[in-house]
Amino acid sequence: MPKDTLTITDNRTGTQYEVPIQDGTIRAADLRQIKSGADDFGLMSYDPAYMNTASCRSAIGYIDGDKGILRYCGYPIEQLAEQSSFLETAYLLLHGELPQAADLDTWVFNITHHTMLHENVKKFIDGFHHDAHPMGMFVSTVAALSTFYPDAKRIADETSRTNQIFRLIAKTPTLAAYAHRHSVGMAYAYPDNDLSYTGNFLNMMFKATEVKYEPHPVLEKALDVLFILHADHEQNCSTSVMRGVGSSHADPYSCMAAAAAALYGPLHGGANEEVLRMLREIGSKASIPAYIDRVKQGQVRLMGFGHRIYKNYDPRATIIKRVADQVFDVTGKNPLIDIALELERIALQDDYFVSRKLYPNVDFYSGIIYEAMKLPVDMFPVLFAIGRTPGWLAQWQEMLLDKEQKIARPRQVYIGAPKRDYVPIEKR
Ligand code: ACO
Repeated sequence: MPKDTLTITDNRTGTQYEVPIQDGTIRAADLRQIKSGADDFGLMSYDPAYMNTASCRSAIGYIDGDKGILRYCGYPIEQLAEQSSFLETAYLLLHGELPQAADLDTWVFNITHHTMLHENVKKFIDGFHHDAHPMGMFVSTVAALSTFYPDAKRIADETSRTNQIFRLIAKTPTLAAYAHRHSVGMAYAYPDNDLSYTGNFLNMMFKATEVKYEPHPVLEKALDVLFILHADHEQNCSTSVMRGVGSSHADPYSCMAAAAAALYGPLHGGANEEVLRMLREIGSKASIPAYIDRVKQGQVRLMGFGHRIYKNYDPRATIIKRVADQVFDVTGKNPLIDIALELERIALQDDYFVSRKLYPNVDFYSGIIYEAMKLPVDMFPVLFAIGRTPGWLAQWQEMLLDKEQKIARPRQVYIGAPKRDYVPIEKR
């Protein structure tokens, strides 16, 4: 008779244990009963980089990496990219359901009316050096927001949580745009509540002397789709950081600054920036084979390729390729796209990439679109962070409301020196 259990025989002792299997997992804590003797602490699992460890139960994002599937709360990413908006998708992630029309109106109203920053934030940003990286400014100013909203510490209070969620989704584009304007020496542009979330972001980025900034509808929509595609990706590095820091009951601004810092790394959200630099370095189609050789020799990584979870095409990359065509119809073609397409074509015929299941990820094409829209390369990780904000917040809130969660505290396997006595410096 099949049973949802796993029988383990400890060959050190000959003892058998039966542990339950639920949702395709065993509980790591169930291994602790497996001891070689009375003094034994009990068996642990060893899983550097959490390659095979589920840290939570979540109802938000779903990925089937082998089939190239991504869904938010059950809805396929392709349908959301096609039919939803970024703010509606944010509502979905945070509430688990698509909103009724009136709920969506209230949600959009609340976010639209929290876009202003305290004037002191400008002074804060002014303090950064003129060539400070916008992501560094973004990480620091998100953290600084916690000092403006001490009520954010009341993480158990639903009203307070909801207020911080409005603020963070609303203010991240403002912070991002201020960071950009500081780095190019332009006066800060205030939010315009007549515009959509994405239209307003473009306004705060690019408004110059015109009385009213009018975003191009195709570019506005393209950016909205890009934000949707980045909105959640289950337990990735930065989201795990959001949950980990949140598990100590830090306020959400501090949590999100930590998550954004994790995103900054070139193996995560910094990859889109690296892709552009790589394509520029390659420079022409003729130089691609030589670059591929360097990748295969392990000298460089093909940025924007490979993914811990997707071992088939990243579904977001497929959507982004379509968006690229729409954007190029407006902006003119970014010449880097030809190098990218050829690089993809050559790589996907090469056994090195095929055998390792390395396909383009979301970042391979997103940077080319951003650049065509005149969004500076330094801003790419910041754009990723704006898109990911609702996902971080949804995961943070889910973690707080999950009765099984506690402060995150992994175990280790100690491999250092055994006990030894301190030797005074003159006797070493
Ligand atoms: N270029 C060349 N080789 C690669 C690449 C790459 N981009 N990615 C993985 N490999 C190779 C590794 O060298 C390794 O080869 P080996 O078995 O001969 O040692 C094999 O493929 C497996 O790679 P791992 O590093 O073990 O895979 P992991 O799951 O740890 O890494 C990661 C995933 C970090 C995304 C990796 O593929 C990478 O560095 N890609 C480039 C950076 C990038 O695009 N990051 C964005 C990720 S998506 C996101 O954050 C939105």
